[in-house]
Formats: sequence, structure tokens, C-alpha cells
Amino acid sequence: RISQLDPTSVSRGEYRHYMQKEIFEQPMALGRTLQGRLPLDDAPLALGEKTMSLLANARAIRILACGTSYHAGLTAAYWFESLCRLPCRVEVASEFRYRDSYPMPNELVIAISQSGETADTLAAVHDARERGFDGVLAICNVDESSLARAADAVLLTRAGPEIGVASTKAFTTQLAALALTVLALAEREGVRSDMRQALLRLPTQVEEILAMDSAIEELAAAFADKHHALFLGRGVHYPIALEGALKLKEISYIHAEGYPAGELKHGPLALVNEEMPVVAVAPNDSLLEKLRSNLEEVRARGGQLFVFGEDGAVDHGGGMRFHSMPACHPFISPILYVLPLQMLSYHVAVLKGTDVDRPRNLAKSVTVE
Ligand code: G6P
Repeated sequence: RISQLDPTSVSRGEYRHYMQKEIFEQPMALGRTLQGRLPLDDAPLALGEKTMSLLANARAIRILACGTSYHAGLTAAYWFESLCRLPCRVEVASEFRYRDSYPMPNELVIAISQSGETADTLAAVHDARERGFDGVLAICNVDESSLARAADAVLLTRAGPEIGVASTKAFTTQLAALALTVLALAEREGVRSDMRQALLRLPTQVEEILAMDSAIEELAAAFADKHHALFLGRGVHYPIALEGALKLKEISYIHAEGYPAGELKHGPLALVNEEMPVVAVAPNDSLLEKLRSNLEEVRARGGQLFVFGEDGAVDHGGGMRFHSMPACHPFISPILYVLPLQMLSYHVAVLKGTDVDRPRNLAKSVTVE
């Protein structure tokens, strides 16, 4: 079913909603984002001359974006700092505009936007230029957009048209495009690793996870009658928890918050009881041990846990529903772990009968302040 999808088509085909179609288009959309840019041999990445020269001059990075695109930026900041050793700050565009913030030497702006028409992001880019930032790289899904025109270089995400208001394939392709810039910068520093291979395997691994859709659908009933939910992650997966919470809020109207799991004890633990589903992404990384003890704190207070991790990641038993994820390279892990959260939100919204593709009060592209 997946391999027959054409991300450039705007027909819903056999899918019930655009969001569902767009979730399933991700293997192909990601393949298109990577295509021609990631040589199989040791040749440099092919991201375009202008993009490569902006990246080559960067000594610091400021990411500006809104909504889901902001979460892509938050994820990439972990990569830029840990893999490229570049200082990176991420700001919500609507806040950056109204704040006095000045660049470090050679600080490059990366503006992320699916539509390229978000008014706050466009205004933030304009302000960044006036404040002397070093250049603007746009990560964008629309070639002819205002943002693409305003930037010095554009790295297109090539996700194809995204119709569902809740962003899915735009998010994962933004992460893939950002991962390419991270690789280009890391390789500039002489880092050679298996990260290229990991990225090349991404579409296939995404396909594997999408095949778990019906198992994830079964979890939805535990959320549909709830009023609140918590999403937990640590490190580079904290922004994935934020994105999971945003998806649930947007389309199912359930109040959800994303939290870095270590911060539970500083407030949200007070909310945990049997009426509060707690979703955790628990990939096999250096923070897993810490996350386990955070989850025990939730279990001890009667919270209902829903955990996504590799086999053996946590001691599941009473009070926990564990969903097994395939083993993966840590570099691409955030791109994979957001998928079950997208599917879960989708199924909760369907169960609640909301207008999945056009949730109340929201617009696909916010072109006014
Ligand atoms: C709106 C959409 C979100 C999106 C945000 C930023 O709020 O509903 O899904 O993430 O705008 O949009 P952009 O096109 O700039 O990525």
C-alpha cells in the first residue's frame, strides 16, 4: 500500500483522511528529500552551492520557526551541538520578533517552515537580517514561497503537498533535511561515521514502523475519554514528546503536555493518577536508565504508562503498555519515534469523531500575525 503512494498527488485515494495518507507517504517523501543529496561513496553531500557555502561560514546557528516546524528545530539543535559542536539556539519566531537578541559572529539563521508563508517566521527572518545575522537558509516545502524568496538559500523538503492541518510528513522531511545539514557540517569538521548509512536506511525503517499501525490503533481507546495526557522524552527525544503532545491537542482536543522526563518531579507528577495517560518514548540511548526511574515514579502513583522502546528497554508489567520498536541508529531515532505518536493521535481523533484534517480554530498556514 505504501509503495503505491504518490506524495505529489493531492487525491486522498483509498485513505479516510489526508492526515492518514500523509502519515503513510512518509517513506516516499523521505526518500525524495534524501535523493541525489547523499552520495553513496565518500563524495561531499550535494545540498547546492549556496547552502554549502552558508553552512561553511557558520560558527553558530539560530533557528526560527513556529508550531511543528519549531519542534523540528529543537530536535536539530541537539544534533548541531553534539555532532557539529556548534552553538545553536532555537526560537519561536513570534517571540524572536519582539525581543532584543543579537547575533554571535558568523551566526547563520535557519528558518524552518512547511508553507513558507507563516507571517511570524517571515517577519522574524526580516528582523534577523536587520540585526546583522550572517545569512538565511530556509528549510521549506514550497519552492515559490515568500520564505524561499526571502532566504539566501533554500533546502527543499520535497514532501509534496500537505493538506492535513496537523503536520506529519512535513515534520519528518524537515528533520531529514536538517540531518543533511548536520552531516555536511560534521563532515566539514572531519567526522566520518556511519550516519550516512543510517540516513539511507531511513525510508525502509519508517515503512517498518508504519506497519505497526493496527497495533497502535488498539491503544487509542485508552485516550479517547481522557481530558489530559502527558508525553515524556529525554535529550533529543524531548522535542519528540512535545510534538506528540501537540499532535494530540490539535486533532483530538485532549489537553496534552510534553515534558522532559527528569522534570516530572518539579511539578507535573502532582497531576498523575489513573485518569492521566502518560506516553513515553524510550529509545535505547544513554539516557534510558534515567528515563526508567522517571517511569517508575509515574507507575508508583498509579499513572497509566504507554511506552515505545526496543525490546527489553523497560521492565513492563502492571500499569504499563509497552510497544516494541525496531532497533535503530541513534542519529535517526527521533525521526522514527515520532511516527507512533502521529499514528496514535490520528486514531484517537478518529475515535472521538473530530474533523481530523480541519481541526477547529486552526489553519494550515497562518499568514497573519
Ligand atoms: C500552523 C499549522 C501548524 C504548523 C505551523 C507552522 O499553526 O497549523 O501545523 O506547524 O502553522 O507552519 P509552517 O508552514 O511555517 O511550518
